Amino acid sequence: MQVRIVAGTANRALAAAVAASLEKVPVVPEVERFPDGELRPAVTGLRGADVYVIQPTGPPVGDNLMELLLLCDACRRSGAARITALVPYFGYARQDRRTRPGEPVGVRVVADALVSAGAERIVVVDPHTVEFEAVCGVPVETLTAIPLLADALRPAPDSVVVAPDLGAVPIAERYAKLLSRPVAVVRKTRLSGASVLAGEVVGDVAGRPVIVVDDMISTGGTIEAAVEAVVAQGAAREIVVAATHGLFTGETVDRLARLGLRQLVVTDTLAQRDTPRLPLEVCSVAPLLAEAVRRLHRDEHRDDLLIRA
Ligand code: R5P
Repeated sequence: MQVRIVAGTANRALAAAVAASLEKVPVVPEVERFPDGELRPAVTGLRGADVYVIQPTGPPVGDNLMELLLLCDACRRSGAARITALVPYFGYARQDRRTRPGEPVGVRVVADALVSAGAERIVVVDPHTVEFEAVCGVPVETLTAIPLLADALRPAPDSVVVAPDLGAVPIAERYAKLLSRPVAVVRKTRLSGASVLAGEVVGDVAGRPVIVVDDMISTGGTIEAAVEAVVAQGAAREIVVAATHGLFTGETVDRLARLGLRQLVVTDTLAQRDTPRLPLEVCSVAPLLAEAVRRLHRDEHRDDLLIRA
């Protein structure tokens, strides 16, 4: 059974890099857009293949997600022997529970749709919720880019790792262990999708440089609020930020540029543009994904996937 890497449009550079690591030529589907906005991808040459569809579902989330679903269905109907969805950034993962009556559990809806479109396995990188695997009806491989990001950081001596909210504490602890630094935590309240309020800082940041870490940066509101909170507690203005997924929606670049960051590190789970106004460094997860494909193709026991979080 041959490995075939199918490159969705959301991040073709990443798919090409994964394919290159595996010494393969990616399958690049034609994706037609109808005048009414519908997408119609077409993919051929997959009969009997072990297929890996690479498509992060970042902005525009609806289109990228729909394309992923249609691609999985197209692969199935083209006779693929096995279909794995590699969704390095999994949109809707933040909607992992109902926070008030009347809401859906978005991540469950998306995972079910993916399985019903034909995905037999899902690979994700640093998903927002640790319960991600529990909401999926098929095996999930959870990879982590944290060691990669931690390696890329050049923290000042005496830095403190800062979790910008309680949800980021496990992430901060992993960075702290890799970098041998202490952890501080900012209490955050989310007021809406676009605005947050930072509260007290737990931990000693006075006079010290900080490394703010999170799973994702969307509007930058969480990072901005955390930076303001630690600076108000006397942290040194030598601020480094690391996050796996850089969505950088709307005015995020302006917002982060105002913080005067020393270093900002994200991965290429989502396609990144040049942003000269930020000290942005992008680490590639292509080798991580390629290794996952290699091991999954060989059907190695899941616990042998040392690349798991
Ligand atoms: C929330 O719980 C996440 O871990 C991130 O902190 C959040 O989604 C980042 O979003 P934004 O950049 O819009 O504040």
